[in-house]
Amino acid sequence: MRILQNIVSTAWGLLLLAGGVGAVHAADPILTTTPTCVTPTNDMAVEGRRAYMRMNCYSCHGSNGHNGIMGPSLVGKAGSVKGAVPAGRSGGMPSYKNKLCANDLANLSAYIQLLGTGTEPDFVNWWEPGPGLPSR
Ligand code: HEC
Repeated sequence: MRILQNIVSTAWGLLLLAGGVGAVHAADPILTTTPTCVTPTNDMAVEGRRAYMRMNCYSCHGSNGHNGIMGPSLVGKAGSVKGAVPAGRSGGMPSYKNKLCANDLANLSAYIQLLGTGTEPDFVNWWEPGPGLPSR
């Protein structure tokens, strides 16, 4: 009985291992995809918010740029965008070098400039062309 249990758990282990290896291969194409760039509006802060959501900045810096758990508050940090975003930072900030659409850095700066003022765009569906403009 014990032998049978061992065989069964080994089989499961191999199956899980195979699944794990398969998952790594399935993820490979992500490295070669180009970012989904949407037709921009004329509003740089709106486009910055769009980029912020598209590149999952909110997962570390929070939905409004200053309520994140992993990343620091970005209030007053617009000037750091051009350095930190493409290159990343050693303390856990990933590099976005290959994920940036045209004007993303300037747009992110414009958006981050508004953080904490209460006038920043806060829409979530970044993929919709022209999502709700902020009421300012
Ligand atoms: C995996 C979590 C994570 C993600 C995703 C992330 N960041 Fe960061 N970010 C950090 C951490 C942690 C730091 C602080 C790193 C350090 O100081 O070494 C940081 C630092 C920064 C800074 C510099 C702040 C300062 O004090 O000068 C800026 C600007 C910034 N992030 C913007 C962004 C933007 C814009 C995005 C999306 C394109 C983004 N981050 C995505 C974790 C993240």
